[in-house]
Amino acid sequence: MEIFLDTASVKEITRWLGEGLVDGVTTNPSIMFSDGVYDIERGAKEIAAIVHPRPVSVEVTTNDHDEMVAQARTYARWADNIIVKIPVINEFGESSLHVVRALAAEGIRVNVTACLSYGQATLAAKVGATYVSLFAGRMSDEGNDAPRTIRMTADWLTRWNYKAKIIVGSIRRAFDIQEAMSAGAHIVTTPPQFLSKLLDHKYSRETVRQFNEDGRKALVYMNDRRAQMRA
Ligand code: E4P
Repeated sequence: MEIFLDTASVKEITRWLGEGLVDGVTTNPSIMFSDGVYDIERGAKEIAAIVHPRPVSVEVTTNDHDEMVAQARTYARWADNIIVKIPVINEFGESSLHVVRALAAEGIRVNVTACLSYGQATLAAKVGATYVSLFAGRMSDEGNDAPRTIRMTADWLTRWNYKAKIIVGSIRRAFDIQEAMSAGAHIVTTPPQFLSKLLDHKYSRETVRQFNEDGRKALVYMNDRRAQMRA
């Protein structure tokens, strides 16, 4: 199972790469904007260089399908590890699947994003998506069962031998990461703060404190014994 960072922060990406935990990065226009990346090309190229050869998803910013294709071709030229994110439908509910199919035929890897249902995810896989992004938090926002949807999608991909990987995004809590992992997500993409939450535990800290304290006590005891033997 892989972990991606859902961020455009170079500082966070560098930090977690150093921990050996980053298998890729996902962004979207909102993430870039809130992380202060206003020049998509510059930001995407910088992140792609830092994480290379791991994948970086960069999302198109238009409702127009011809423009999506043009943007996707441009993004794909920026670096060989850039994956183009295409929303499963545009904001008017028009299908983007033909865009995905055309890009996949050109060899451009696509992450079909904004999937909120089993049906959307399976259709995206059928037309050649490399990744399908299921938005767990947004599903839960609407009272839907995200782990069940992830499990059904993962089973369907396996049963019919599709190569597409599920990326579970829209993570709101550390618990969502664990739920997605056990539901069969191939990848969970998370904002960095939830990785910190997943890693830290107050009882681990207390356990380590106790071991360190006893280690120090043993050292003092040993040094006292040596001093006594020399005397
Ligand atoms: C990742 O690929 C998604 O764009 C992201 O996780 C969406 O998260 P949100 O629902 O918090 O906006």
